[in-house]
Parts: sequence; C-alpha cells; structure tokens
Amino acid sequence: MSEPLTLNIGLCGFGTVGQGVWKHLSANLAELESRLGVKLNLARAAVRDPKKVRGVKIPARKLTADPLAIANDPSIHIVCELMGGTTLARQVTLAALRHGKVVVSANKALICEHGPEIIAAAQKHGGHFFFEASVAGGIPIIKALREGLVANRFPRIYGILNGTCNYILTQMEEHDAPYAPVLAEAKRLGYAEADESLDVDGWDTAHKAAVLAWLAHGVWVKPGQMIVEGISRITPDDFKNAATLGFGIKLLAVITRDLARNELSVRVHPTLLPASNVIANVSGVFNAISVTGDVVGTTLYSGRGAGQDATASAVISDIADAAALLKHGKGGHLLGEASAPARGGCRLAPPESIRCRYYLRLTVKDQPGVLARVASVMARQKVSIASVIQSPAATPGAASLVLTTHQSNERAMRDTLKLLGRLGAVLEAPLLIRSGDFD
Ligand SMILES: NC(=O)c1ccc[n+]([C@@H]2O[C@H](COP(=O)([O-])OP(=O)(O)OC[C@H]3O[C@@H](n4cnc5c(N)ncnc54)[C@H](OP(=O)(O)O)[C@@H]3O)[C@@H](O)[C@H]2O)c1
Repeated sequence: MSEPLTLNIGLCGFGTVGQGVWKHLSANLAELESRLGVKLNLARAAVRDPKKVRGVKIPARKLTADPLAIANDPSIHIVCELMGGTTLARQVTLAALRHGKVVVSANKALICEHGPEIIAAAQKHGGHFFFEASVAGGIPIIKALREGLVANRFPRIYGILNGTCNYILTQMEEHDAPYAPVLAEAKRLGYAEADESLDVDGWDTAHKAAVLAWLAHGVWVKPGQMIVEGISRITPDDFKNAATLGFGIKLLAVITRDLARNELSVRVHPTLLPASNVIANVSGVFNAISVTGDVVGTTLYSGRGAGQDATASAVISDIADAAALLKHGKGGHLLGEASAPARGGCRLAPPESIRCRYYLRLTVKDQPGVLARVASVMARQKVSIASVIQSPAATPGAASLVLTTHQSNERAMRDTLKLLGRLGAVLEAPLLIRSGDFD
C-alpha cells in the first residue's frame, strides 16, 4: 500500500483563531487523517512577535515573523490567513494563490474589499480560496449556500451575524439597561473591541452580508452601497415599546431578491422581529441565519458566531475540504461558477422597491398640535400611520412620540425623515427601526 499524501499547513497568524486551529487540529489529528485519507502536518506559523508567550505551545523553530515566507514556501500546500487586516493579508493571500496553493481565510473584511481580485487570482493560477470562518463563525453557512442549497435561488436571507451587537441588545432588553454601560461591560468581558465602531455601527455585519450576497447571487455589493445602521441609538424604552407592539429588536443583515424583477437589496439595520420569530429569541453572542430558497423553502441555522473554538471548527472544515481537493482533484462547488452574468445577473433595488413597516421614535416639544404636524408631513409622503405611543421624554418640556406605519418604502421614509428634521417641534434626529415582515 502506498504512503498517504502528506499536506503541509502554514498558519499566517497565531492569535485567537490560529491557536484554536492548532489546538483542535492537533487534538483530533488521527481521526481527521483517517477520515480524509491524508497526513496533515502543521508545519509553520507566522506571528508579529515570535517571543510572545502564548496559551497554545508551538515549537520555536516553526515560528516566523514573515507571513510571506509561508505563502512563498514551496513545501506548504495550504495557507491559512488568520491575521486580519486587508494589506498584508491581501499580499499573503495573492502570493499563495499565485503559487496555485489553497488559501483558507477567516477574514471577511479582506473578502469584502478585495474579493473579485482574490477570486480572479485563484482562477488564473489554479489556486483555491475557502472562507467558511468569515461569516457566522462555527455555523457552516457558506457550505450550506454553496453546496447544500445549490439547487435554489434565494429570495430572502436574513440573520444575526454579529455576536457583540446581539450580546449588547440582549443585555439591554433583559436588564432594562442603557446602551453605554452595557457596551462597557461587553468590553470588560472581551465581547467588544476597544474600538467598538466596526461592530456596533453595523460594518462588520455589512462585510459578512456582502460575502453572503455574493455567494447567493453572484454580485459584489460594497457596504457603501447598502443601508447600514448600527445599534448605538437604541434605548431601553425602544425595547419596551417594541414589546408592547409584540416585537423584539435585533441587528440583522437582510438580503432580499425579487426574483420577478431581478432586484437585489442588501442592508444592515436594527429590525423589529415578531416575538414569535425564532431569531428574535436568539440571545447573547449567538448568531442565527434564516435562508429561504425557491426550491427548499425556509431553513434555519444557529450557533456560536465567533470565538476561538467555533471559528477553529470552521477553519478546520476548510482545511478538510482543501485536503479532499488536493487528494482527489475536486472539492465543493468552485467559485468561478458564482459569477452574476452566468446566473442571470441582478441589479440593486431602488429605494422605492424596498418595502416594510417602520417604527419611528421622535423627541418633540410637548405642545398641542405637534402630533398633527408630524402626521401631516407623513401624509404628504403617503406614509400611513398604524399606531401612536406618546410618553414623557427625559428632557423637561419634551415628549417621546413613537409612530408605527403601515407598509411604506425607503424613498418615502427618507423624504419623511428629511421633512420631520426641519420641523421646529422635532428636537433631535428621529430614530427609525424597520420591521422584519418575514413570515
Ligand atoms: N476571533 C474571532 O472570534 C474571529 C471569528 C471569526 C473570524 N475572525 C477573523 O480571523 C482573523 C484573525 O482573528 P484573531 O481574533 O485570531 O486575531 P488576533 O488574535 O489578533 O491574531 C492575529 C495574529 O496575526 C498575527 N499578525 C498580525 N499582524 C501580523 C504581521 N504584520 N506579521 C505577522 N503576523 C501578524 C499576530 O501576531 P502576534 O500574536 O505576534 O501579535 C497574531 O498571531 C481576522 O480576520 C478575524 O476577523 C476572528
């Protein structure tokens, strides 16, 4: 019997994720090797500071401070880019692909910014690019879209893709707590970065939404082309109002495609979800995604969206796919097939095509006639009011007005917000929450 193929793996990055991959791959090596029919050799790892003391031990001779040396090392078959960032990570990824290697990435920001260039390099040089860990951590959503659901087109994908935001919203809702102290606690517990803006302003979710939209629809949508709104203006009162109306509030990525008009919409925003919706009940740092396919109907995925172990699980699944590809010359569905023209193409939906119901919170002067003026602005934009909740605001002489609307559209709501901002009686920028009418 011939010796099994030995595949050498290089980890560029040996931080949270890199160490998790090393730890779990080492622990389960014999079983994985027997399932895959190859030998897996954790050959090298690159870090910024080789002298740093690390939780997971690695022989010093295997460490380098030069990730490009791993990408260019002819003995390395699989390069895992686990550094983050978009500059050196791009160089490492492109160098490895130009050598025809398999690159495994957890880096959604890199894919979102340089995806077309990376895929083109892989196709040109015979390399391969796997990125299961880039979206929703341990949930195998990339594999689900690329393989399990390949028979489908996707009218709707939505979900919680950022555990930090979901943790903050859950704490606010459960403890009736304001945003700022909950954010501070999330930082103390290591759930939020020192600079929280990427998470709480919605950009991390937007990067992941871009990756999912591309996989599902073959179109690269930049975060700048999406509606992206974060969670920092949500208050405990919004949760109370939402509960009164029968909803919870979640930060969602929402990717919808009108198959008849062939229009695609990708957006990230706090969303009112009916309390009965399963995703409304996903708490803490967990992620959850609902995927509706035109053949299968609706499917649901939930699990840990980040953290060392969950992310390592996803990276190792890509290493296993890479091993199958290198052993048998074929793997899952290759990415060249994801291009938009081959799949009928689709255009971005104009604002008037994006329709839902809206929750609008206004802080207004507590005077007679203000509600009538607000209602008249909305009526002029043909935005029809469904309900009104009025309560005293924190500021003396001010009132909080919460209006929900019947179905309207983004264009009408944008115009409404602009006009309301010009009313002297409206004291601060209105807060808008879209409702997720998904059932
Ligand atoms: N953490 C998660 O839960 C999670 C989940 C999903 C996806 N991801 C993605 O996974 C990637 C890695 O995240 P992480 O949390 O593991 O980051 P991390 O803990 O900060 O680790 C980054 C690693 O890259 C090394 N590195 C950074 N810049 C380098 C340079 N110029 N040269 C050589 N090595 C360099 C660091 O070296 P030193 O150790 O010497 O500093 C460190 O080992 C990111 O793209 C992230 O978005 C992370």
